[in-house]
Amino acid sequence: MATLEADRTFWRQAQTNILQRVSSTIDQNLNGFPHIGDPKTGEWVTTPDGFWTGGFWIGELWLAASVTGDDRYLEAAKHWLEKLESRVESKTVFRGFLFYYGAVVGALLHGNQRAAVLAQRAAQSLGQQFDPVVNMIPLGKEAEEAHSVGDGEANIDGLPAAPVMLWAAQRLGDAELRQRALKHAGRSAELFLRDDGGVIQSASFDTTTGKIIRRYTHKGYADDSIWTRAQAWAMLGFVLSAQLERSETSLIQLAEKVCDWWLANIPQDRVAYWDFSAPVTADTKRDTSGTAIAAAALLKLSQIHPDANKAAVYRDAAQATARALVERHLNSRGILADGCFDPKNGTAVSNELIWGDYFLFETVATLAGDLPSSV
Ligand code: GLY
Repeated sequence: MATLEADRTFWRQAQTNILQRVSSTIDQNLNGFPHIGDPKTGEWVTTPDGFWTGGFWIGELWLAASVTGDDRYLEAAKHWLEKLESRVESKTVFRGFLFYYGAVVGALLHGNQRAAVLAQRAAQSLGQQFDPVVNMIPLGKEAEEAHSVGDGEANIDGLPAAPVMLWAAQRLGDAELRQRALKHAGRSAELFLRDDGGVIQSASFDTTTGKIIRRYTHKGYADDSIWTRAQAWAMLGFVLSAQLERSETSLIQLAEKVCDWWLANIPQDRVAYWDFSAPVTADTKRDTSGTAIAAAALLKLSQIHPDANKAAVYRDAAQATARALVERHLNSRGILADGCFDPKNGTAVSNELIWGDYFLFETVATLAGDLPSSV
C-alpha cells in the first residue's frame, strides 16, 4: 500500500513538472507549432503548418486540460486545433500522427465535436489515399520523406494512420474505411517486420504489381538496422489498432511480437540508443522520444492484454521505462531532454522533441491514475 502511494506521488510530481513546461510553452505565444526544443533555454523551433508533429502539441493540451480541469489548456487546445484544418487533405500518411493526437484525443477525452469532425474528415481522406495495388497507404507526395523517393514507398511510421481510420470507421459505421485500415495494418506487418519482430523503417514496392522491391531506412543507421523509432512506432500503431479492434486477434499478436522484441533488445538501463545497430560508444546518442513512445505502447498493451501474467510484465516494463526517463532525462523545466531526431542529417540529435514530451506525459498521467485507458 505504502509503495502504491509512493508511486502515485512520484508520477504526480513528474506530471506537475511536465505541466510546467506545457504552461511555459503557452506563455511563449508561438506563431507556429512547437517541434524541437532547446533543453537548456526552453526555446522552440516551430513549424508553420504542424509538419507531422503539430498534433502532439495539441495532444499535450488535451491531456493537460483533462488532468487539471483548467480551461486555459482547453482553450489553447481549441485554438491550435483550428490550425490543423488546413491539413485535413494533405497528401501524407503522417496525418495519422496529426489527427490521432491533435483531434481523436480531444474527442475521446473532452467529447469535442469539432475535433471529432476534423478527425473523421482526415480519416476519410486517408482512406482515399489507400492504394489497392500495394494494399496499404503509401507515404504520399507531401510526406516528410517523399521528396527523396518516388510513389512506390511506404514507412512503418505511417502505421498510426490505421487507428485514426478505425476510430472514424466505428463512429461513421463505415465498413470500407475499416477494411482499408485493417489492410494498411496487415500489409505494414508484411512490409516492415522481420520474422524475429524487429522492424525496418521503409520499403519500396512496384507500383504496377505491389511487390516489395527493397527494405531500407530514411533515418536509421543502415538499411537493415532497427532504427529505434521504427520499432517504437510499430509498437504504438499495432497496440492502438488492437485497442480499437479487440476481435482482430492478429493485431494484439503483432503488438506483442514487436513489444517483445523491444524488451529483449533494449539496454539494461531501459533508454534506447537512437538505433539498435549503431555502435555504442561514449558519444552514441540516446533517443528518449522513441523510448517514450515505447513506454506508452507497453502500458497500453498491459491494459488490453487478455493474459493477466503477460499484462503484468508489460505494465512493469512500462513503469520501469517511464521511471528511467523521468529520473535521468526529465529536467527541472519539465523538458524531456536527449531526444534524437535525425542524426544522419545532423538535426536535433540531443533535444526536446514534442512527440517525446507527449508520450511521456500520457504515460505518467496514466500511471498517476489521472487518465482513462481509452486514449
Ligand atoms: N517520421 C517519424 C519520425 O521521424 O519519427
